[in-house]
Amino acid sequence: MSALLDLSPAALASNEEQLFARIVRDLRERGFTVCPDALPLSLAASLQAHLAEMNDARFSRAGVGRQQAHTLNDFVRTDEICWINGESAAGRDWLDWAGRLQRFLNRELLLGLFSFESHFAHYRPGDYYRKHLDAFRGEANRVLSLVVYLNPDWQLAEGGELVLFTRDDTAAQLKVLPGFGTVVLFLSEEFPHEVLPASRDRYSIAGWFRVNQSTGQRVDPPR
Ligand code: OGA
Ligand code: MN
Repeated sequence: MSALLDLSPAALASNEEQLFARIVRDLRERGFTVCPDALPLSLAASLQAHLAEMNDARFSRAGVGRQQAHTLNDFVRTDEICWINGESAAGRDWLDWAGRLQRFLNRELLLGLFSFESHFAHYRPGDYYRKHLDAFRGEANRVLSLVVYLNPDWQLAEGGELVLFTRDDTAAQLKVLPGFGTVVLFLSEEFPHEVLPASRDRYSIAGWFRVNQSTGQRVDPPR
């Protein structure tokens, strides 16, 4: 067995522990984390293979807002999305991974995360998502945003950065290249962010851990 790539179940579990622990530490200290090359290779590869065989027709134009307030808005975003419902093996593996992360975060940070929703996103060359927040204070059931990238060999010159406006200084920006396996998490209410246009197709998964806002009358619907 190679010392560089130990794929035994024990080694994989311990890599996962280490990643989750780093995520917890960063979230505690500054509310966000950026981990290049962090998504387990086998998971990243099967998600990428799934994307490659998915028909474009499975994707539809992303909207802005939930339910009745949901509108298509070219001014804000132009990407296409496909929700992940666990129909494919890769999708199920992804949801399992996010579920393990959710349990770890609940245990370590007592966040009370209750559910997770996520979609593939496809940004064609020139597509963008302008500066926005994933959740608004008060109606905040999206607590934590998770983004991972599935673009092999992404080059700086190709653009497509995620720009995260960090909280120490509203002018401060962190630019993240959408490189294969990079994992980003941030508190949904606290970090405005945007997606800059790229010169090639850009694939990501965006997901949100939510707290439950069910009332006696109404079961909190997903999305
Ligand atoms: C989103 C989002 C970021 C990205 O879908 O809300 O901000 O880099 N995505 O794809
Ligand atoms: Mn967002």
